Amino acid sequence: MTSPGLFITLEGGDGSGKSTQAALLEAWLVGEHRTVVRTREPGGTDFGTEVREIVLHSRGDISPRAEALLYAADRAHHISTKVRPALDRGDVVIQDRYLDSSVAYQGAGRVLDSAEIRRLSLWAAEGLLPDLTILLDLDETEARRRLDGARTRFDRLENEKSEFHARVRAAFLDLAAKEPDRFLVLDASLPAETLAARIRGVVEPLLSRHPAGTDAS
Ligand code: TYD
Repeated sequence: MTSPGLFITLEGGDGSGKSTQAALLEAWLVGEHRTVVRTREPGGTDFGTEVREIVLHSRGDISPRAEALLYAADRAHHISTKVRPALDRGDVVIQDRYLDSSVAYQGAGRVLDSAEIRRLSLWAAEGLLPDLTILLDLDETEARRRLDGARTRFDRLENEKSEFHARVRAAFLDLAAKEPDRFLVLDASLPAETLAARIRGVVEPLLSRHPAGTDAS
């Protein structure tokens, strides 16, 4: 079930600079005459925006399995209505977070079974895996320092204690070690432009394997 498009996801803890790198990569790809769809989970669709509000800002507790199912519901709708159609057109999709976030946050963070969470995500997304996953790895203390400077309101996950974020970070690194061909692991404490150059260096050869779609201008 391969499609002509190129599917790139960005992963990492909160405050690791994913949005900055997504924006820099998008700008470069547009300059290369690629049609880019930049999106995110949770919240890449109208339905997902509603799920995002519930899962991140609901006032009461949400049980870990209910939380996992909410992320999976967002993912199922997002992939089938937005991401897959874009890949079928031959677009480049740059996505902030995907199934690895579920394995890291709900699996390792909430201590659910990681293999089950991965299966749930793959079921939701009908088996779609990214061509490339960029992991921006950052020490939790530095991530927290960055968030404290940037945020006035923390979401439910950001409010978790440092042990939770340490488990999430370790889980991401473990996932990357298991799938070295899919992952590019970068030290997110490096300057943004250095990281962007490293990312371009890996994406450029992938572009030739995924020629631009017919509607690329
Ligand atoms: P994100 O959009 O990166 O947060 P922000 O825009 O506030 O930086 O992600 C929202 C939160 O959702 C983040 O703390 C990680 C969490 N998350 C999961 O727990 N599981 C998932 O499957 C996904 C996609 C995100």
